[in-house]
Amino acid sequence: MNQSHKKDLVAEAALGYIENGCILGIGSGSTVNCFINLLDKVKPKIEACVSSSELSTQLLKEKNIRIITLAESGKIPLYIDGADEANNHKQLIKGGGGALTREKIIAQASDKFVCIIDDTKYVKQLGKFPLPIEVIKIAQSQIAINMMGLDGRPVLRENFITDNGHIILDIHNLNILEPIKLEQEINNMPGVISNGLFAMRKADILLVADENNIKVYWLIVLKTVLLFLLFLDLLSFSQLFWHP
Ligand code: 5RP
Repeated sequence: MNQSHKKDLVAEAALGYIENGCILGIGSGSTVNCFINLLDKVKPKIEACVSSSELSTQLLKEKNIRIITLAESGKIPLYIDGADEANNHKQLIKGGGGALTREKIIAQASDKFVCIIDDTKYVKQLGKFPLPIEVIKIAQSQIAINMMGLDGRPVLRENFITDNGHIILDIHNLNILEPIKLEQEINNMPGVISNGLFAMRKADILLVADENNIKVYWLIVLKTVLLFLLFLDLLSFSQLFWHP
């Protein structure tokens, strides 16, 4: 099964989270584009969308879906977005498409963040995908030096300006052992608009498409906890019969 078919599969699975009268936050990227393509199926349920990029806004408008601002929506019940990498804590690297800042703002304003990826993006440790940082131009060299101090290799994204009018540095080679700590550390550098680590506001539900089906990651955590409780229960039961 090719990657684009997996994107369609996981996008379809996300439709199931949309409830009647829903105000929907919409991310950006090719997986989200697949999701927007499918929205005709649930359009009557959607009251309006808050969009994270000019491109997503354009695609939503083509579907005659009402776009509202975050100021109009207030808290958003559901946010759907893709990612470039995700780990088993549902922490993410995002920003491959350059929309990380608006995505982070909308994710932060959302009650439930459903992240949709294919299994090529599910990793043990974040950092193989270069970490995008949106930066005010004047701070470019300072931030690049700071990131080299963290053993990263900064590369300016060529011919690219974000929807907010800033540049992006993609940081290669990072060994991200503590995503929350690194996210905070980069946020503290003057001139950083935002960085692509979504660890403080991670996904609530991670949907991962593999060859055959969709794995739902909050369910897997729940299953592990239940199995552990069952194990403890069995252990205490067996001790009733074990008298050395
Ligand atoms: C854009 C993003 C995207 O969600 C991320 O790059 C994944 O994109 P795609 O679905 O095309 O692989 O963060 O800023």
